Amino acid sequence: DMGGHDTYMHKEITEQVDSVDRVLRGRIDDRFSTVHLGGLNLDAREARAVRRVKILGCGTSYHAGLIGAQMIEELARIPADAEPASEFRYRNPVVDPHTLYIAVSQSGETYDALAAVQELKRKGARVLGVVNVVGSAIARETDGGVYVHAGPEVCVVSTKCFTNTVVAFALLALHLGRIRDLSVADGKRIIAGLRKLPEQIAEILRDEEHIAKLAAEYANAKSMMFIGRVRGYPAALEASLKLKEISYIHAEAYPASELKHGPLALIEPAMPTVAIVPDDDLLEKNRAALEEIKARSGRILAVAHREQEKADHTIVVPKNEDELDPILMGIPLQLLAYHTALALGRDIDKPRNLAKSVTVE
Ligand code: M6R
Repeated sequence: DMGGHDTYMHKEITEQVDSVDRVLRGRIDDRFSTVHLGGLNLDAREARAVRRVKILGCGTSYHAGLIGAQMIEELARIPADAEPASEFRYRNPVVDPHTLYIAVSQSGETYDALAAVQELKRKGARVLGVVNVVGSAIARETDGGVYVHAGPEVCVVSTKCFTNTVVAFALLALHLGRIRDLSVADGKRIIAGLRKLPEQIAEILRDEEHIAKLAAEYANAKSMMFIGRVRGYPAALEASLKLKEISYIHAEAYPASELKHGPLALIEPAMPTVAIVPDDDLLEKNRAALEEIKARSGRILAVAHREQEKADHTIVVPKNEDELDPILMGIPLQLLAYHTALALGRDIDKPRNLAKSVTVE
């Protein structure tokens, strides 16, 4: 049932006000400025002994993991990184007893992610899951984890589950942080930020008409460049994947700082850039990248916390705490991909060549 929407994708994008509320519900602990994650199965002593976090997933789940790794580093100060699950499993990785492994999957059935979990388990590692589908294979085979409670996601491209997964990582990062060195004041600050999310998502959704107009303006692009820096980079990767999957427009995602090391050669009017420009301590650096693109007559659509003069157009996103900004930056970009595909008449819920869950090798 599409509940009055023309596609599941549109329904699922608009459901995010409620689905984000669901991943938060019942988990916030104001008394200790932390969160409770019932199924984690990792006590405080074990959490303190973790020396590294390695996050594994595929596609959009990998991108959510990249953001999760940054959140864990920032809030819990544990070195963390993410890697595509399939790459990990084919490179005979060193499995370290002090590393906490986390498998991320909407379906919980993605074969590459499941195989990585099984290989890790076989070698005695501690593996958690950040999973949407309750009781799925990855949920069953991990030692514990966090359910993301996005609800059923029907569209082949992931939207609400991506957002909820990132929020689940924020919860996990806060939890690990408060067991380690994150202060009460910072805990309170992050909790206040989390509580603002549903209303801020509603605000982004109210901007849909504007985003649809912009999409129509850029839909004739042959190819698109997505750039971001640090917190904005995984959002750029995810936005680029979304656009490719449903509009079939070729897209590249690069860290803004890498432009001058090669991809700047691609910039010309037929290749517009979508720039993710949060109001954080990298703002000036990001503005400099916009200037470089303008100097090569590139068109720029900025996703930012306020109008960017150097850009041709800006989608303004509400500001949250710096660490939580990546959660909201993704949402207008889902709408941008959606309206681009709609303008091009694509089969949005069932893009060619793709399946909802990839249960084969
Ligand atoms: O169910 P999973 O999260 O494990 O799926 C992983 C990928 O196959 C999935 O995210 C894919 O990239 C989607 N089509 C993204 O929109």
